[in-house]
Amino acid sequence: MIALGCDHAAVKLKNTIKEHLTKLGYEVEDFGCHTDQSVDYSDYALKVAEAVASGSCDKGILICGTGIGMSIAANKVKGIRCAHCSDTFSAKATRQHNDANVLALGERVVGTGLALEIVDCFVGTPFSGDERHVRRINKISAIEEEYFK
Ligand code: RB5
Repeated sequence: MIALGCDHAAVKLKNTIKEHLTKLGYEVEDFGCHTDQSVDYSDYALKVAEAVASGSCDKGILICGTGIGMSIAANKVKGIRCAHCSDTFSAKATRQHNDANVLALGERVVGTGLALEIVDCFVGTPFSGDERHVRRINKISAIEEEYFK
């Protein structure tokens, strides 16, 4: 299950991603928002991050104008490794190296075609499982334990 969330600046791209993933056979849970009425991106980042951190969703995709606010907010939730990507290389690498579990995109930054390619890389690339990457992720978790008590 993939959790989707956006703010008012990114409803169109969120709906396009939802349709794209559904066509590919993924199950999607849409946490909103659904209109262009102004909302706070942090509320939607929290909904998606909690769904992923709790295990009710496997991965999350968050979209706002830039993707930056969403990524900052999502990364405050324990267990979330949210990667803000505007290119396919980073989307693939963050799955292989960081085991990123949430992707953040900016509707005002990337075009629709590129956004869908980034999504494909994110959902379709497995974590490498290499010892050095596991070690580094464990060190991130240790930082989280220390500073997010
Ligand atoms: C909304 O205007 C905008 O600030 C938001 O979508 C996002 O870009 C924040 O990081």
